Amino acid sequence: MEKALRSFLLTLLLLYHYVMPTSAMIIRTNVSTDQLTLLSLKSQISSYPFHYLDESWFLNISDCHWVGVTCDYRHQRVKSLNLSNMTLTGKIPRDFGNLTFLVSLDLRRSNFHGNLPQEMG
Ligand SMILES: *[C@@H]1O[C@H](CO)[C@@H](O)[C@H](O)[C@H]1NC(C)=O
Ligand SMILES: *[C@@H]1O[C@H](CO)[C@@H](O)[C@H](O)[C@H]1NC(C)=O
Ligand SMILES: *[C@@H]1O[C@H](CO)[C@@H](O)[C@H](O)[C@H]1NC(C)=O
Ligand SMILES: *[C@@H]1O[C@H](CO)[C@@H](O)[C@H](O)[C@H]1NC(C)=O
Ligand SMILES: *[C@@H]1O[C@H](CO)[C@@H](O)[C@H](O)[C@H]1NC(C)=O
Repeated sequence: MEKALRSFLLTLLLLYHYVMPTSAMIIRTNVSTDQLTLLSLKSQISSYPFHYLDESWFLNISDCHWVGVTCDYRHQRVKSLNLSNMTLTGKIPRDFGNLTFLVSLDLRRSNFHGNLPQEMG
């Protein structure tokens, strides 16, 4: 009995030391740079009457499943962003150029100001 308890406690200790930090790390490093860039865009939006983004643009959902976002299948990076017909008003953040896989951007019917980063042309 005592032996069983001891090995149980040892297992707990091992779990605590080796497994917990690893899973905590996975959760933290899971947030992609594309997610941060898109959230920085979201934070610059001053008006979005239909709250489209509030349905999916959260860190606990992969950005490849966010409304308006399409990912490059192989790299799981944002390939196109289509925020047309959402009547958003806001500002393009300076970090927008961090979406290095972006090849298509559709902001029709939205009212964004600010410059697209030079590298996007
Ligand atoms: C964009 O990239 C720059 C340079 O690598 C970095 O300092 C910055 O934190 C990034 N911004 C976002 C929103 O990830
Ligand atoms: C994700 O987070 C948001 C805001 O914190 C919450 O409302 C939503 O229920 C969460 N979704 C999932 C799938 O956990
Ligand atoms: C985090 O990674 C796990 C495992 O790879 C994946 O299932 C999950 O969708 C990811 N979460 C986000 C927010 O990307
Ligand atoms: C963006 O979405 C709208 C509405 O769904 C669609 O009409 C338009 O063709 C899309 N734009 C691009 C560049 O795919
Ligand atoms: C975009 O919105 C306009 C006006 O509400 C509508 O006429 C048009 O059909 C919409 N386009 C798409 C592709 O949803």
